[in-house]
Amino acid sequence: MQDDKELVTGHHGEAATHGTAHAAAGQAESDSRRQFLNRVGWGSLIGFLAINGAAFLRFFYPRVLFEPASRFKVGFPADYPPGTVNSQYQKEFGTWIIRLQDGSFFAMESKCTHLGCTPSWMESQKKFKCPCHGSGYYITGLNFEGPAPRAMDRFKISIAEDGQLQVDKTIKYPGIPGKESNEVYPQSLLRA
Ligand code: FES
Repeated sequence: MQDDKELVTGHHGEAATHGTAHAAAGQAESDSRRQFLNRVGWGSLIGFLAINGAAFLRFFYPRVLFEPASRFKVGFPADYPPGTVNSQYQKEFGTWIIRLQDGSFFAMESKCTHLGCTPSWMESQKKFKCPCHGSGYYITGLNFEGPAPRAMDRFKISIAEDGQLQVDKTIKYPGIPGKESNEVYPQSLLRA
């Protein structure tokens, strides 16, 4: 009987010891899980803040765009003899400065209205000729041969405070089929 009691007590003690060990192991496991989740949580938060911080900074420091200015000066009126096409600003600004025989100026986009190639001014023939499909334009930009559907576009030209000619590409006078832009847009002409 005594032995049985001891045996029972012994079993109980063993079970208790096992229980305690089990609980401790469980506790350790849950601690380490909590730690792990904690780390994941902080990691995600830091990652989130870093990405947002970068986006925030990018907002204040936008990427530099090497686009030509849409307003630019092209020298003084006296630099331009009447009846000439100046291609000096064609490459950088896609614009010709043209001075007609009567002394008036206009700025024209150096872009064919067919498919956008760059025509060339043929001084001997007094016309713009597009190398792509052969469109031809008068000095005023009106098309007269080839597939171009309309006159070339113009930009606003004015006199800046320092007396130089200034082109503003944000103000555009689009060419109209069969119409002379000198008549449609008298404001595109500058008499200086
Ligand atoms: S792009 Fe000029 S004629 Fe076609």
